[in-house]
Amino acid sequence: MLPTPTSVPPQLRDSHGRALRDLRISITDRCNYRCVYCRDGEEGTSYSELSNEEYLRLITLFIPLGITKVRLTGGEPLLRHGLVDLVAEIATLRTLFGEAPDIAITTNGHLLESLAAPLKNAGLRRATISMDAVDAPNFEAITRVPRSFERVLAGIRAAKAAGLEPVKINCVLLRGFNDNQIEGFARFAQQENVIVRFIEFMPLEEGRFWSRDLVIPIDELVGRLSRVAPLVELPPNEAGETAIRFGFKDGPGEIGIIAPVSRAFCGACSRLRLTSDGKIRTCLFSQVEHDLYGRMRAGLNDEALRSYIIRVAQQKEQRHHIGEPGFLKPSRSMVHIGG
Ligand code: 5AD
Ligand code: SF4
Repeated sequence: MLPTPTSVPPQLRDSHGRALRDLRISITDRCNYRCVYCRDGEEGTSYSELSNEEYLRLITLFIPLGITKVRLTGGEPLLRHGLVDLVAEIATLRTLFGEAPDIAITTNGHLLESLAAPLKNAGLRRATISMDAVDAPNFEAITRVPRSFERVLAGIRAAKAAGLEPVKINCVLLRGFNDNQIEGFARFAQQENVIVRFIEFMPLEEGRFWSRDLVIPIDELVGRLSRVAPLVELPPNEAGETAIRFGFKDGPGEIGIIAPVSRAFCGACSRLRLTSDGKIRTCLFSQVEHDLYGRMRAGLNDEALRSYIIRVAQQKEQRHHIGEPGFLKPSRSMVHIGG
């Protein structure tokens, strides 16, 4: 008989009592965009990626430990050769509860138009698309890639048509930079019937310019959005929901506000991350990484690797310390860690 959710204690639990169910794996640290708030503008020259077989083996180690969600990130995950096959392989795995893992992807959307349907057929369930402006000139100034806006719009529409729903759009807001897009995004959410999620800028960029003044306070954001159309607050979708959710009083579309800086949600964090070179990060802001891939290469067997993962998970940080005196930026930037 298959175990039921209540009969199986989660294996991955940290020392603060949180069950870890969500694995985010960066499958490349390459990216075809150079978003100004993420990359320092130089084209990287050295990349660290594993083969699809190796990523699959790493994911396979985690699944029986209670992971139920797998999110593929990057860099830009759609740059990965053989991505559709990798998704199809992940979809054959079974969680502790006997089901296929919930597979999602975070992408910049540039290559999504032609990949949305094949990915859906392979077992991908949901797509989150990063988009930091709603008009072409602003968008292209941010991504530093010409004609990127139309490609991403086409990607969003293809994701919806393929049923990769709900389609979520992530917009990282920086004051004085793209906060003039807030009202346009409210209209975009309604017109395209998508979830637009505003994310507070975190100190994860390659350059070092983060400051609290760049973060837009939630009240200001909600005030500006409600002047476009009246909002109604929605209940959280699940325990550990990171977004404060709003619907529009009249009509479709949804807004989410993800405020890791001003309303940290560390207490409910269920995430573990794997970097593109196979290292476990227990927090976006970790100062240490745990070399799972190195141990796999050294020939440790699955049982030994799983006990290593369990020990590492126990060490998950209680919370981040953004904005506090003595805050240290993480050892690696977002393009390496993966959202
Ligand atoms: N702060 C907040 N979000 C960021 N992202 C990239 N860099 C940052 C940052 N410094 C977002 C991307 C993408 C997701 C993976 O993380 O825009 O939506
Ligand atoms: Fe932009 Fe994401 Fe690429 Fe960074 S990793 S440059 S945020 S698309």
